[in-house]
Amino acid sequence: MSVNYCTSVGEKTTYKAAVCFDYKKPLVIQEKKKPTRLSKGQVLVAIEAAGINFSDILMCKGLYQVKPPLPFTAGSEICGYVEDIGESVSNVQKGDKVIGILSNYGGFAEYGVFHKSTLFKLPEALSTVQGAGTIISYGTAMMALGRRAQLQKGETVLITAAAGATGLAAVDIASHVFGAKVIGLCGSEKKCHLIKERGVSHAIDYNTEDVRGRIKEITGGKGVNVVMDQVGGDIFLQCLKSVAEEGRILTVGYASGTIPNIPANLLLLKSCTVMGLFWGNYSQTNPSAFTQSILDVTRAINHGDIYPHVGATFSLSQINAGFSYVENRKSTGKVIITTMDGAKSML
Ligand SMILES: NC(=O)c1ccc[n+]([C@@H]2O[C@H](COP(=O)([O-])OP(=O)(O)OC[C@H]3O[C@@H](n4cnc5c(N)ncnc54)[C@H](OP(=O)(O)O)[C@@H]3O)[C@@H](O)[C@H]2O)c1
Repeated sequence: MSVNYCTSVGEKTTYKAAVCFDYKKPLVIQEKKKPTRLSKGQVLVAIEAAGINFSDILMCKGLYQVKPPLPFTAGSEICGYVEDIGESVSNVQKGDKVIGILSNYGGFAEYGVFHKSTLFKLPEALSTVQGAGTIISYGTAMMALGRRAQLQKGETVLITAAAGATGLAAVDIASHVFGAKVIGLCGSEKKCHLIKERGVSHAIDYNTEDVRGRIKEITGGKGVNVVMDQVGGDIFLQCLKSVAEEGRILTVGYASGTIPNIPANLLLLKSCTVMGLFWGNYSQTNPSAFTQSILDVTRAINHGDIYPHVGATFSLSQINAGFSYVENRKSTGKVIITTMDGAKSML
């Protein structure tokens, strides 16, 4: 194996990382030895910010489909700058500001080693914290609405947890890339206000309003063409009952903690289709479709069509508070962990 010794390691020989030692306990900040060697195709990134995803929280509780061996450093998407490159790396150079994904974990840290194919140049329009919260939510929403549901201009799409990370990305993309009419469901008046600002034509608070009645009224009894659901449980079933003839329903997540059982007769009655999406898995099963979903996002950002919303930032030492903030449904858009002081000034 070809190995490159890092040349620009500077003074620092260790770095901080948020480590999961026990599924039942909070993460612990641990000092780790900084990598000094890079293999072919590897890139050393000084991480400045990392996005929190619901899956990171589930993984640290041992509740996600991927269970890394303990202990592990959590975190799956970042923004930072390239500190060093291994052999055969030409897509990024030392000093480049990049956004990147890790296959499942390693991002809540001051340094990370990435494969070159998982790094992309930070779009100029984005700040560091926005960049750290872009790839997973926007890549998922782009693939869900485009490749999977084949959303068409003028169609009506219903999005659940619409003020959340994936939901708000879907609102942005459905409205501003696909030209769809968007109805958003979320859990408070404040969140309804935000999603209206970000592109939905109608916002429904599913804690206080009659979801099916409102959708019937908004669509003139026809129902919606596409549903993108991040919540599962009873909300999924209400959405399924609100779909139009030949509608498409995307099951993307189960933030409620309940995986819904789907009565097949409802699919028959509406001649509709339920489809799943496991976006991250495409990096293994269909890398070109996976990369394309990210490139479609960065292109739309560079055109000025869409931009990610960062609702809050926490420092690396406050990571457990950041997790609680998302779990307790306080977050809007993306919540970002920063490794630098003065993070708020980067918003
Ligand atoms: N399939 C994929 O490829 C893929 C990719 C990305 C994410 N996901 C999944 O999509 C879901 C959302 O992920 P995210 O990172 O975008 O999170 P998020 O939407 O930022 O946060 C979760 C949101 O879900 C809503 N929610 C409803 N019931 C909840 C409950 N019992 N507990 C907590 N939240 C609840 C809350 O919004 P309200 O208060 O407005 O209800 C909350 O803000 C997760 O299940 C995640 O695993 C799947």
